[in-house]
Amino acid sequence: MYNAVDLFCGSGGVSQGLRSAGWRVVAACDSDPAAAATYRANHPETHLVEGDIQLNATIDAIAAAANGMVDLVVICAPCQPFSSQNRHRGNDTREQLIVRALAVVAKLRPSLIFFENVPGLASSAYREIVTAVHAGLRELGYAVSEPMVRDAADFGVPQRRRRCIMLAAKSEAAVAAFSSADVRQDPRTVYSAIADLPPLASGDASETDPLHRARTHLPIAVERLKHIPRNGGSRSSLPAHLVLQCHKGKPTSFSDVYGRMAWKSVAPTLTTGCTDLTRGRFGHPDQDRAITMREAARLQTFPDDYQFVGQPAQISRQIGNAVPPAMIEAFVPAFEAALAIGVD
Ligand SMILES: C[S@@+](CC[C@H](N)C(=O)[O-])C[C@H]1O[C@@H](n2cnc3c(N)ncnc32)[C@H](O)[C@@H]1O
Repeated sequence: MYNAVDLFCGSGGVSQGLRSAGWRVVAACDSDPAAAATYRANHPETHLVEGDIQLNATIDAIAAAANGMVDLVVICAPCQPFSSQNRHRGNDTREQLIVRALAVVAKLRPSLIFFENVPGLASSAYREIVTAVHAGLRELGYAVSEPMVRDAADFGVPQRRRRCIMLAAKSEAAVAAFSSADVRQDPRTVYSAIADLPPLASGDASETDPLHRARTHLPIAVERLKHIPRNGGSRSSLPAHLVLQCHKGKPTSFSDVYGRMAWKSVAPTLTTGCTDLTRGRFGHPDQDRAITMREAARLQTFPDDYQFVGQPAQISRQIGNAVPPAMIEAFVPAFEAALAIGVD
């Protein structure tokens, strides 16, 4: 069985994907108490270090917890600093977390290191950081791929979610084995993920599933939704008297706000605001409400028995922040192809 360490583990999307593929996750780290509580509830066999990776004590604790040969370290550093939606980009100390995580690599010397981040990391604006990561890895004796942009929709996830990935390994041949492995999966739709869930009106809650609870929208928000065509419609269909004040005269800015998902398509990228109509195209395809936490968890490919801990806003945040487990599971054969090359 292969062993992994999951850095910036959040609620555990990466760990869930690895475990589904038969891997063991020996250690994980995150600094957010709510995400850590969710992680613990679902991965009791993993030694979770709850702490700030910027502290040496946290690095030492992760290394002690891993205690042995590690095949893979996964580094999903917070993505806000690289995102085009971040107004403070380029001026955020979290940029350095991805580099800081190399201190764990230096201690554990895993066979592979996998990076996942928003596509902005592959852009020229952040070349300096990628260069620093490459330099740090080369100094430690690793070969490393260029950043590659991939869409989770091609890997069994019913969601458009473009991500930048990179792999480091102890030989160029292992990196090439990873990059050339074709691990794409058949496309999945919103329909396949959520159509079987019980219908809910604004403010309704399932009696059996605490995550399948619709937000209570203001009457005017429900009225707006009634005018937005089912199955993929947008706020451009609103009559003048229902257009939000802040959208008047701006038909193209934030055009996804109040939009509905389409049954036969993938969902848009889920974010930390994924159950909020005002944060993106998070309207249900044909019910007059935003998607529920259960629907968001399904669109992120979490199994229904995955337990999320915290208040609704914390849970939506954990779900929106996660790496979809199915995407990581799909990559496992590529990791194993790289490990089969070996150099040790
Ligand atoms: C994009 S999320 C990771 C998602 C996770 N890999 C998953 O699959 O669900 C980034 C995570 O980094 C954590 N984080 C941010 N700053 C940190 C720090 N200084 N030390 C440790 N974790 C940190 C956040 O709490 C958040 O859970």
